[in-house]
Amino acid sequence: MRVLILRGNPRKGGVSDKMADLFAEGLRRTPAHVDDVDLCSSNINPCRGCFICSSSDSARGACPINDDMRAIIPLVEEADALVCVSPVYFYGMSAQMKAFFDRCFPFVKGYDFDKEKGNLINITSFPLKPKKLVTISIASGRLRGSFDAMSATYASIAGALGIEYVADIRRGESPYFSILGGMSLRVRRVLDAMVKAGEQFGLEGFIQPRTLRTAELELAESDAAFAANAKVFWALRKRGDSRGGFSSGAASEDMGILLSEMCKRFSPQNSPKNASIRFDFGDSRVYSIKIAEGSCELCRSSDFKEQLAVYCAPEVWVGLSSGRKNAIEEMKKGFLKVEGDLSLMAKLNRIFPRGNA
Ligand SMILES: Cc1cc2nc3c(=O)[nH]c(=O)nc-3n(C[C@H](O)[C@H](O)[C@H](O)COP(=O)(O)O)c2cc1C
Repeated sequence: MRVLILRGNPRKGGVSDKMADLFAEGLRRTPAHVDDVDLCSSNINPCRGCFICSSSDSARGACPINDDMRAIIPLVEEADALVCVSPVYFYGMSAQMKAFFDRCFPFVKGYDFDKEKGNLINITSFPLKPKKLVTISIASGRLRGSFDAMSATYASIAGALGIEYVADIRRGESPYFSILGGMSLRVRRVLDAMVKAGEQFGLEGFIQPRTLRTAELELAESDAAFAANAKVFWALRKRGDSRGGFSSGAASEDMGILLSEMCKRFSPQNSPKNASIRFDFGDSRVYSIKIAEGSCELCRSSDFKEQLAVYCAPEVWVGLSSGRKNAIEEMKKGFLKVEGDLSLMAKLNRIFPRGNA
């Protein structure tokens, strides 16, 4: 199977790129042949609506505009599947993705009347190899409606070109991927599902519903939590932190997010019945985790005396919680100070296991 990935994301290294990379990684585990085209760095002019292509005998060279579409049209013809990746821009696909589809007009030739169904249908000018379409759409919001207009447009375009629309992956909450990077378990499940989706598509020509559901998993537990965390993202942007990609460093700006993610991984069976840990990140950022009778709670401040106190800079805790730093090494270097019940410190990785959902 020849798969043509079409990237319509103007911002490089963002969430669309990441999702496209993961899907491509899955595809490359299969015998599928993958072509990857960045529409935004290609020179693709808007369609001028001259209809000259409609009078041509071939889709190749049918358009009088001499730009990169001359090289892309043959790739579209040869492909067995198109994978279109685009951010949601005001409820639609990016202008670059739309310009690409408008320039596919050489493939379209008016209408026909389907006597059996009794309705009008689009017809294509040139015999197109049977094709499948997968779309991956990225939005910052978590409103399901954010994607509806875009999906409807893709579905109509697929209908007009006689392409089978097999999967519409709608990935909302994109700021979460910047804030939490690979540290949240739910984010990691989504990232893994994107690779799996590529692999399943490359092997079977479709994506299993369960994989799609995981790829679209909601990351915030409520709209209110999403709004609160999205504010952290926008505050970072305002402060000039333009790391929109997968930098986990951004998370160090809000340790509350990191620690609440850690609490979600709480494993009661590996934990003492009652425990309390204080985290002091300097700059008056103090948090406490209280474990009582099999449940775990994050408090911004506490009126109880903690068994264990951890003192370090935010980036040190980010490194420790992602497994990139080692606690003993950090203590030796003087970057991590621990007071109280040291055996509790030694158990933290089991109480909050990184590998559990
Ligand atoms: C011009 C513009 C319009 C946008 N419109 C929407 C929108 O309608 N709904 C939404 O949820 N996000 C919207 N967003 C947010 C983007 O979809 C989001 O930031 C996404 O992560 C961008 O993809 P990237 O990370 O690959 O750059 C918009 C962003 C821009 C720049």
